[in-house]
Amino acid sequence: MSSPAARSITCYSKIPEFLVGNIGQPMPAVGLGTASHPFVAEDVRTAVLTALELGYRHIDTAALYASERVVGEAMAEAVRRGVVVSREELFVTSKVWCTQCHPELVLPSLKESLMNLQMEYVDLYLIHWPMAIKPSKPHFPMKREDIVPMDLSGVWQAMEECHRLGLAKMIGVSNFTTKKLQELLAIAKIPPAVNQVELNPTWQQKKLIEFCNDKGIHVAAYSPLGGQRISKMNPIRQSDILEEIGKARGKSAAQISLRWIYEQGASMVAKSLKRERLKENLGIFDWELSDEDRFKIGQIAQRKLVTVQNLLCPEGISCVDISDVDVLEI
Ligand SMILES: NC(=O)c1ccc[n+]([C@@H]2O[C@H](COP(=O)([O-])OP(=O)(O)OC[C@H]3O[C@@H](n4cnc5c(N)ncnc54)[C@H](OP(=O)(O)O)[C@@H]3O)[C@@H](O)[C@H]2O)c1
Repeated sequence: MSSPAARSITCYSKIPEFLVGNIGQPMPAVGLGTASHPFVAEDVRTAVLTALELGYRHIDTAALYASERVVGEAMAEAVRRGVVVSREELFVTSKVWCTQCHPELVLPSLKESLMNLQMEYVDLYLIHWPMAIKPSKPHFPMKREDIVPMDLSGVWQAMEECHRLGLAKMIGVSNFTTKKLQELLAIAKIPPAVNQVELNPTWQQKKLIEFCNDKGIHVAAYSPLGGQRISKMNPIRQSDILEEIGKARGKSAAQISLRWIYEQGASMVAKSLKRERLKENLGIFDWELSDEDRFKIGQIAQRKLVTVQNLLCPEGISCVDISDVDVLEI
């Protein structure tokens, strides 16, 4: 049997990139998500290595996911094996969690992420949610009593400092509504390059996409396949409409969803631990949806899967009004 290093590698031709931020830095259209529930380090390490072998170059992680260390190890291993030439070929996103969303804790949190990743810089550093929790180790679910008012201006200045120090090539946000983005744009010296949000045919975010396009903020989709919940029916992978469109073109419902996102001008991070699916999720670039397909997808009932309420313990009362974090914008 051949060693893994000698195994032949099926590589997709280069994944298309979007030019993002003030100076137009290339960001791959599809990346690998590494939030994995339950989290099994060895499985995520293998998935990252496999993804890199298949041609993925963007890996999405966060202080919360506990995946930074294995992402770093897998990437270092990929360079050692010659799967990628050097760190510069890769695009790494990480995020500061709500418990570190305080002006004095942002830079230390990024430094800890970089230590875990064994890297000198991340390509993109995001505020994970526009919400601050009393300082503690990143965790979830969080107590409602621990929510404190967020100093958006101070936190963003700290993010700008991360960029100025060269520790984050680009800075951005995640889960920001148009209202939160407006607040941020009013105070930012460096505008956010990216807003990473839930985006897929069952949460199409038309208003947010229009707003971001207008302001030059790139939209990156998370949960592009409807997320990881297995208890309930998955709205994307088991969508009759997406399946029907896919059947007619020899594609899966998952691929129809990813292609639709790409056609919105958004990049995406999709999670899979399975080689075949990692491959499948890259097979979206050499064909397109028809106007009829797009019309049908436009008719899909809208429902947000990820809400701030999912991050909080059901019991307890918050002294801070967080209703504006979860505004549903259609
Ligand atoms: N910024 C944020 O607040 C935020 C929130 C959520 C997620 N994220 C990021 O976004 C990433 C992706 O989102 P997500 O993890 O919520 O879910 P997702 O990518 O929408 O879906 C992942 C699930 O779909 C399955 N899957 C993958 N490819 C498939 C295919 N071709 N056919 C059928 N099933 C497939 C995977 O199972 P297998 O592993 O068994 O293949 C996995 O359980 C996360 O990992 C994380 O990096 C960010």
